[in-house]
Amino acid sequence: MFEERLEALRREGLLRSISDRDSPQGRIIRVRGGVLVNFSSNDYLGLCGHDSLRRAAARAAEEYGTGSGASRLLSGGTALHRRLERLLSDLKATEASVLFGSGYAANTGAIPAIADRDATIFSDELNHASLIDGCRLSRASTVIYRHADMDHLEELLRTVRRGRPVIVTDSVFSMDGDIAPLRDLTQLAAAHDALLYIDDAHGTGVLGRGRGALSHFGIPPESFVIQMGTLSKAAGSYGAFIAAGGDLVRWLVNTARTLIYSTALPAHLVAASVEAVRIMTSDALLVDRLWRNRESLVRGLHCIGVDTGRSETPIVPILLEDDQAALRLSEFLRARGIHAPAIRRPTVRTPRLRLTVSAAHTEEDIALLITSLREARDCGLF
Ligand SMILES: Cc1ncc(COP(=O)(O)O)c(C=O)c1O
Repeated sequence: MFEERLEALRREGLLRSISDRDSPQGRIIRVRGGVLVNFSSNDYLGLCGHDSLRRAAARAAEEYGTGSGASRLLSGGTALHRRLERLLSDLKATEASVLFGSGYAANTGAIPAIADRDATIFSDELNHASLIDGCRLSRASTVIYRHADMDHLEELLRTVRRGRPVIVTDSVFSMDGDIAPLRDLTQLAAAHDALLYIDDAHGTGVLGRGRGALSHFGIPPESFVIQMGTLSKAAGSYGAFIAAGGDLVRWLVNTARTLIYSTALPAHLVAASVEAVRIMTSDALLVDRLWRNRESLVRGLHCIGVDTGRSETPIVPILLEDDQAALRLSEFLRARGIHAPAIRRPTVRTPRLRLTVSAAHTEEDIALLITSLREARDCGLF
């Protein structure tokens, strides 16, 4: 039965497989025997392989061992966990924060904890899968609004009144690289007495001089705003957190099932994240370099006539006609030393290459990508 289903996926160009990397994550990676310039990671600041993160993790592994052995509520946590939580609430200017095992766990644990079956969730149609799953697990009634369409959201908030409203959105949409209209969302949430849950996975370390999407817009962290962030992307480590008011964070500690019933993050990952937050907040040049590279990539793409759609961030998609076209372009780039895997259905409706640029890329890397894409275009590949 699964054989036939797999064969059907293969015929449609939708079969996925895992490609192992045979090198550290970084600007250059070794995959499937090739040494490639990597335009596919979320390691926006190049911290995954950073020496001081490695050293911090190694020291903590020496001190605390490799596993944490229990949930945070039992004996899984350490003083390092507390320290990271304090740093993260400073980063996000909130009263408190609490760690989760991953961004997926944060979204699927926190959303059901704040929205029960009597609540109504208003969710952007392009939200990340983990937010969608969090909404499903909550059993609240979930209303989808058109992507970033504030008129549509307002109309729904006015007409669908059942329980406390909770608005759920990505800050940076992970497949298009556009930024949610957070100023309007905050105003709408205030006007309708709603909670606003922001997934800042791709904003943390990237927007607002590293502090995230609210800082980018200069929006104060009101008590009805809940910020989620991952430590697995710009922070170059692993894990995630929710930053919010003290009562809300204590509520999560008491009710979020993915926090209570899951083993705490190991201390060495926490130590790497502590170091990452220190670097993010002290090395302004690093975030500047990321944005310079982003501008250089987008300028290059526009020069060769590539439409970068709604992208406003280091995530830059190239939309393609179908899944096969995305696979062909990805293979073409691979042959020229570039790693940019195809993103296909069901992750996205329109197949694409999702390019991500990092602070670690050089001008030569970006030039190689642009030249290769121009060549692909001349060959009629897109
Ligand atoms: C917008 C968004 N939210 C949540 C996640 C999940 O985060 P994590 O990889 O830490 O589980 C991701 C990344 O995969 C993401 O892109």
